Amino acid sequence: MTEYLRLDSAECTLILELPQGEAPLWRYWGLRLPDGVLPPQSLRETRPTPSFSPDFDQPLSVFPGCGAGWFGESALLAHRDVRDWSFQATQCRVEQADGSATVTVFDEVSQIEVIIGLTLNAVSNVLAIETKLTNQGNAPLNVKWLAAGVLPLPPEAAQVHSYCGRHNGEFVPVTYQLSRSTWRRENRRGLTSHDRFPGALVEANGATYGAQLAWSGNHAQSIEWIDDGRFQWQFGEWLAPGEVRLAPGECLTTPELLATCAHDADRVAQNFHAAIRQRLTWPGGAMKPRPVHINTWEGFYFEHDEDALKDLADHAAALGIERFVLDDGWFHCRDDDSSSLGDWWPDARKYPNGLKPLTDHVTGLGMEFGLWIEPEMVNPDSELYRAHPEWALGVSGRAAVTARNQLVLDMRRAEVRSYLFDCVAALLRELPISYLKWDHNRDLIAAGDRAGYRDQVLGSYALMEQLRAEFPDVEIEACAGGGGRIDAGIVRHTHRFWTSDNIDAVSRLSIQRGFLQYFPPELMGAHVGASPAHATGRQQSMDFRAGVALPGHFGVELDVRTLGESDRAQLQHWISLYKTHRDRLHSGKVWRGEAGDGLYWQAYGEADNLLLLVYRIEPQSWRHAPLLKLPILDAKQRYHIDGTDYDGAWLISTGLPTKPLKAEQFLLIEVKAI
Ligand code: GLA
Repeated sequence: MTEYLRLDSAECTLILELPQGEAPLWRYWGLRLPDGVLPPQSLRETRPTPSFSPDFDQPLSVFPGCGAGWFGESALLAHRDVRDWSFQATQCRVEQADGSATVTVFDEVSQIEVIIGLTLNAVSNVLAIETKLTNQGNAPLNVKWLAAGVLPLPPEAAQVHSYCGRHNGEFVPVTYQLSRSTWRRENRRGLTSHDRFPGALVEANGATYGAQLAWSGNHAQSIEWIDDGRFQWQFGEWLAPGEVRLAPGECLTTPELLATCAHDADRVAQNFHAAIRQRLTWPGGAMKPRPVHINTWEGFYFEHDEDALKDLADHAAALGIERFVLDDGWFHCRDDDSSSLGDWWPDARKYPNGLKPLTDHVTGLGMEFGLWIEPEMVNPDSELYRAHPEWALGVSGRAAVTARNQLVLDMRRAEVRSYLFDCVAALLRELPISYLKWDHNRDLIAAGDRAGYRDQVLGSYALMEQLRAEFPDVEIEACAGGGGRIDAGIVRHTHRFWTSDNIDAVSRLSIQRGFLQYFPPELMGAHVGASPAHATGRQQSMDFRAGVALPGHFGVELDVRTLGESDRAQLQHWISLYKTHRDRLHSGKVWRGEAGDGLYWQAYGEADNLLLLVYRIEPQSWRHAPLLKLPILDAKQRYHIDGTDYDGAWLISTGLPTKPLKAEQFLLIEVKAI
């Protein structure tokens, strides 16, 4: 009698077949099946062994190995001094609890044990998979690849959608055709990267499958066609040669793989948002309304003048701004990006009495104070580097590779972490700082004589964890030249992402659209910048800049003292409107749509109480504005919009008339069920 394991959430089902002494076989992963549905027979009973094939059929399992009859990609590439390179489970134990299962497979020949945890969350519909390998042999095991998870995709899968990008250009959508060749994407930049987001979506049979790796370092994913027409989708860390060598008894635990399946990309996004919200740890246990920021970077860059900054704080407070973030330029001798990273004490020339007069001024105005730091970095021109050149990562015998004139500290070293902890802790103890903007302004290149990319990430996580434990009321923003470290791993330690250094509202619309596929809007740092935008030179109205920033964690990044009267009044209006709507924007669902003729819309909240944001980038080409079809509404419900009542079915099938918009204009519409 064949045994099966079935896990369900409201919208998803997973079914594994459990043959004796083998890794469980993938039978189903996708949209929810009716209760009680199971495969009628074991997989092997349903398919004769094909010609020129091993006599013992090897279907896709949760942990396919190599050298034992499986010709597809292996979930493990490892060896013990060239031996023990093949893997095939000879024992398997499956323990099931509510909504989760733990699969333990052991290969008596290679003496490798693998434990795979699978949890399908009932609320988020997100399947979390984590894999732990233990070297049970008596010699070291070199690991080149250990999949965090292996997922099946149906034969109808045709395209994979993901994002590429660069600094100032995050979340550029890319679509690839799937074929009988393997699709593979690797990131070797040492942190999540602007270039290759560690996630993707695949559509098949009216369902959209999504997955993302919760990890802030190197990563790889592949989708490979397999012999029965399905595809296998693997995710994991990209490991450098020699990076993982496990002594007998040692283990390697992968990052979490988060996967979901839903009817469309928006519902995949909603599932991911729910899963990310479950992983956030807020000071005080719950998110407080996201305070309006002012960030000094683009308004001041390195030009810190205490009086000017106090004046800025006065103007910001008068506008209703709630948190003042002092960006780069405040610490010892930091006048440009050529020096001083590592010297985390206030510049005595710019702040003769330290930062206290400024922080007290800011908090005295009723605002919170936030501070920019870049702990993992050091400039060769710094006190820290002169004292400890050996703390910078590099490869012996090679010239150091700088980027933005800086090197990366070796976060594997306890003394480095403890130096950084002491520097940051001293600031947090002495000053009323409730927020850190934590930057990482370069890729990691030479990760030590023995490659330490993975341990570097773990070292950064450990430092964040230690600081959060000691200062639980401090929030952290993850930044890496804008969006170079946006991932589901760092959200366990942080509370906001700086989405991009490009604040141009037109660029931001597509960047934010991509961000929202994986992360909820309350984590999306979104600022009103200057016009012309510093990154692009484009000019945009205050209304449009504010309208694009509105749904995210709203902020302002310009010298508000220089605003003309009308811009100031408009900004004040948007700040107050943001405060009115932020609860709805940041606690519900998000939908993203296109009405035709280049009219984009986004809806936030719940289907009976929505905030609709409608954006036009290019001028209208139709004589009349397109109607806004809203498939997200309930056909049987009636809605009140701008003084008129509509049938839901009418809005779904025919659409809402809107007033014509010029290029770079937007509308804010409230939709309420009646
Ligand atoms: C990075 C960040 C910016 C700013 C600068 C400071 O580029 O993304 O927001 O903090 O560093 O050097």
